[in-house]
Amino acid sequence: MTAYDYSFAKLLDSTPIDILLVGDSLGMVSQGHINTLSVTLEDIVYHTRCVNQGVERALVVADMPFMSYQVSVEQAVTNAGILIQQGGAAAVKLEGGERIINQVNAILKAGIPVMGHIGLTPQSVHQFGGYKVQGKNFLDSKQIKQDAKDLQKAGVFSLVLEGIPEELAKEITNDLKIPTIGIGAGSNCDGQILVTHDLLGLNPDFAPKFVKRYAHLSDVIQNAVIDFISEVQSEKFPGSEHAYNLKKGPLKQVNNDR
Ligand code: KIV
Repeated sequence: MTAYDYSFAKLLDSTPIDILLVGDSLGMVSQGHINTLSVTLEDIVYHTRCVNQGVERALVVADMPFMSYQVSVEQAVTNAGILIQQGGAAAVKLEGGERIINQVNAILKAGIPVMGHIGLTPQSVHQFGGYKVQGKNFLDSKQIKQDAKDLQKAGVFSLVLEGIPEELAKEITNDLKIPTIGIGAGSNCDGQILVTHDLLGLNPDFAPKFVKRYAHLSDVIQNAVIDFISEVQSEKFPGSEHAYNLKKGPLKQVNNDR
């Protein structure tokens, strides 16, 4: 699952969840942008540090944001290093296959574990012309399969498959030795990831096909706040059990004139 702050990370880490991804999806769910493109390296460093404060057990993976690794191999290694050194992540995730394979090789050579991410990679949203399922024609699916093989050969420890037909995800999963982690890629992947806010139903306006809401926290939160307002207005809260009291007996004057 994804995590962006201490409180959620601590809660999620208390479950058997394997990996917490500090995803650049924070640009949408925390910062309110329409896509992930404006997220900076500093944003991910900051949120990774917050998440790390709450994690004792799960593997913390930091997303490399848009334009933090595409420019050059040197840029990619330097920024992956910053996410490990300053953010405290144990691994980084990059979007893309063949076209970023030199960056992946160099980051791995620096001793940093890499998670791959192919298919509907959100940082390429404009190139795709929107959030459209990828790999639906022969050439695209061939490229995605090749990307998966290239990334495994380079040495990534796992591979996110996002927004591809489940038949393609199945084929890739069967072909690879490393675990695949699906999101909008059907049930045949080795693992699954969802954005935590989606899984918990924190945004009632976002309900794509690939998301299942395991809770409806937006309702829970709104009802709690409505109850709070109503109890304050009716003077039910705070009750005497929430108030502090003086010790019994009269207050004594303290003489400060020395
Ligand atoms: O940014 C993110 O949260 C992600 C996952 C959805 C895979 O990349």
